[in-house]
Amino acid sequence: MKIMTIAGTRPQLVKIGAVSRILRESFNEILVNTGQHYDYKMAGVFFDELKIPKPDYDLGVGSDSHGRQTGRMMIALEEVVEKEKPSAILVYGDTNSTLAGAIVAAKLHIPIIHIEAGLRSYNKKMPEELNRILTDHISTLLFTPTENAGDNLKREGIEEGVHQVGDVMYDAVKFNIGLAEEKYKLDDFALEEKGYILGTIHRADNTDNPERLRAILEAFSEVKEIIYLPLHPRTKKMIENSGFQSIVEQSENIRIVEPISYLEMLFLEKNAKAIVTDSGGVQKEAYFAKVPCLTLRDQTEWVETIETGWNQLVNPLEENLSVKISNLTVGEPIENLYGDGQAAQKITSIIQKQFI
Ligand code: UD1
Repeated sequence: MKIMTIAGTRPQLVKIGAVSRILRESFNEILVNTGQHYDYKMAGVFFDELKIPKPDYDLGVGSDSHGRQTGRMMIALEEVVEKEKPSAILVYGDTNSTLAGAIVAAKLHIPIIHIEAGLRSYNKKMPEELNRILTDHISTLLFTPTENAGDNLKREGIEEGVHQVGDVMYDAVKFNIGLAEEKYKLDDFALEEKGYILGTIHRADNTDNPERLRAILEAFSEVKEIIYLPLHPRTKKMIENSGFQSIVEQSENIRIVEPISYLEMLFLEKNAKAIVTDSGGVQKEAYFAKVPCLTLRDQTEWVETIETGWNQLVNPLEENLSVKISNLTVGEPIENLYGDGQAAQKITSIIQKQFI
């Protein structure tokens, strides 16, 4: 059976790294890279490090406005899908690449397999929320990471084809953390154990709103710990466009670096005193690493991390952001909230039962 996987962003490559290896033991996988992320540091290094097979198709779509980016992906995808005629199309998560793949599949009457289904922030202003809702509603098999994700789907009337399998990102962490710890030491980054806070910012909500972006950078510059900040290209561009470089240049503790690889990220998460982020994946990785996390957003899809006290939400415009960053504390003792690290095996055997 031929399964076509469609993806194109950094977090999707991490998930492919965990799933493809297992999927290919049972299926003929055709990998299509939309090219939504195209810099080596945002994509290429993930292929290399996670040993992801070379894509069968590179669409090279790149950045654009949402409508144009998604539309250009759909035009290119339709041609590839019509040529390959896969029995199912597999998409991950909530990016524009996910939605483009799902719409093209649905229009050609090809069953959609959605990994990381059922997540909701209940904020329809986020492009990711629209991508998730639309994809879930046209999927045949929906693999959810948690019970809460299944409940979200039920509320929208989706019960058929839903399987709770755990989180493939936990599979990825379990497989890679040992490799990360073998490969790196803190000296490589001139950092000390628990002597720094790891930060990531890239959400449109934060980067495209100068008031929020300024508040975040000012708070970072006020804390006494080192803020180690691997910067997404979009954030870099927005800092330059908004004239905020001076905040960074005048600060003694903000250390901006280029985007880092997955193994570097896992290593630095594990050794950080705390993590401050607006990424979905990094909130969970903080929880897996047993490191407290502050999420610079008003809602999160990963509600379990909040309920157990490992993660807190904060609007960057709230007062005392820097105090909140410095005073993060650990949560309840860890139980396994995101499965057993065997999600890829479960997904593969359910696909086999469904289609073969
Ligand atoms: C996308 C996803 C987001 C995911 C994130 C992970 C959508 C709607 N959003 O956001 O859910 O969390 O990926 O990183 O799909 N850019 C580069 N080089 C690259 C990639 C991007 O310079 O390799 C810059 C471009 O200036 C571009 C901007 O980043 O305009 C935004 O890129 P885009 O892929 O549209 O969205 P992300 O912010 O990366």
